[in-house]
Amino acid sequence: MAQDEAGRELGRHERYRGDYPIVVEGLTNAFGDQVVHQDLDLKVRRGEILGVVGGSGTGKSVLMRSIIGLQHPTAGDISVFGRSTIDSDPEVDIGVRNRWGVLFQGGALFSTLTVGENVEVPLKQFYPDIEPELRHEIARYKVVLSGLPEEAVGKYPSELSGGMKKRAGLARALALDPELLFLDEPTAGLDPIGAAAFDQLTLELKETLGLTVFLITHDLDTLHEICDRVAVIADKKVIAVDTVPNLLDLDHEWIQQYFNGPRGRAALTAQALDELRRHMDEPVAAHAVKALDKPPAGKA
Ligand SMILES: Nc1ncnc2c1ncn2[C@@H]1O[C@H](COP(=O)(O)OP(=O)(O)O)[C@@H](O)[C@H]1O
Ligand SMILES: [Mg+2]
Repeated sequence: MAQDEAGRELGRHERYRGDYPIVVEGLTNAFGDQVVHQDLDLKVRRGEILGVVGGSGTGKSVLMRSIIGLQHPTAGDISVFGRSTIDSDPEVDIGVRNRWGVLFQGGALFSTLTVGENVEVPLKQFYPDIEPELRHEIARYKVVLSGLPEEAVGKYPSELSGGMKKRAGLARALALDPELLFLDEPTAGLDPIGAAAFDQLTLELKETLGLTVFLITHDLDTLHEICDRVAVIADKKVIAVDTVPNLLDLDHEWIQQYFNGPRGRAALTAQALDELRRHMDEPVAAHAVKALDKPPAGKA
C-alpha cells in the first residue's frame, strides 16, 4: 500500500500529503553495455507539472517505466507515495499502482476495443466487482472529462483523429481517479492548435483534480505554458530541475542549444507576446506587437 511521510499506510480513499510523491535516488539503468542512466536523482513535488526533457534516446521513457515498475533498474531506489517500487510485487502493490494513470508514448489504445471499453480496462482490472452499468457510466464520464464528445465512447480508435486518440488515452489514464499522471510526449504529432488545446486540458485537470503530472515532452510551448519546473536529462543524469527562466541562465551546452536555439527563441517570443497581451489593453498590446515585428530603426 501507499504510505504517508511517516510510513503509515494510506487508506484507499486517503490522498498522499507528503511533499514528494516520487523520489528517485541513484538510479542506474543499463542494457548490455549501453548505460542509459547513471546515478540519476530526481524528486517530483506534489501538485506540480514537471516537464522532462532531453535529447532523443537519453532515457526519458526508460525513466518513466522505471518509476512505474515496468523496468527493473540495474541499481538505485525509487519510491512512489512513500513506497519503494523496486522489487515490489505487482500483485501485492495494487494500492500504489491504482494511484497513478499513464498515457504511453503513441497512445497505445487497444484497437479492437471502443474508446469506452478502453477506459473500462483498468476499472475491470482493479475493481472487478463494479457493476457493468456503473463501469460504463464512469467510463463515459472520463471520456467527457477528457474533452471528447459523448458519442466517442462507442467509436474505435481507427475512427478518431490524432488529437482525439490522445484524449481517449488520457481518459483511460484518468479511469482510476489517479493522484499522479504520467504523460509520455502527449502532444507529439498534433498540430499546434491541437497541442495547445491538449496543454490547456492538462493544466485544467491538474488544477481541478489536484494531480501531480510527470510530463515527458519535446514541445517548447508546453514547457513554457504549463510546466511548473522542468527536469533536463543529459549525460545519463538529471543535470538540472528548475523553472524555464532559471534554466535559461545555466551554462550547459545542450540546455543553451535547446532553449536558446531558433525554436527555443521562437517559443520564448511567443510566450513574451502572450504575457504582453495579458497585461496590456488590447489596442496598446496590438501596437506593441506590431512594433516588435519591425526591425529596429536605422538597422534596415
Ligand atoms: N527494453 C530495452 N532494451 C534495450 N534497450 C532499450 C530498451 N528500452 C530502451 N532502450 C534503449 O535505451 C535508450 C533510451 O530509450 P528511451 O528511454 O526510450 O529514450 P527517450 O529519451 O527517447 O524516451 C535508447 O537508446 C533505447 O534504445
Ligand atoms: Mg521516449
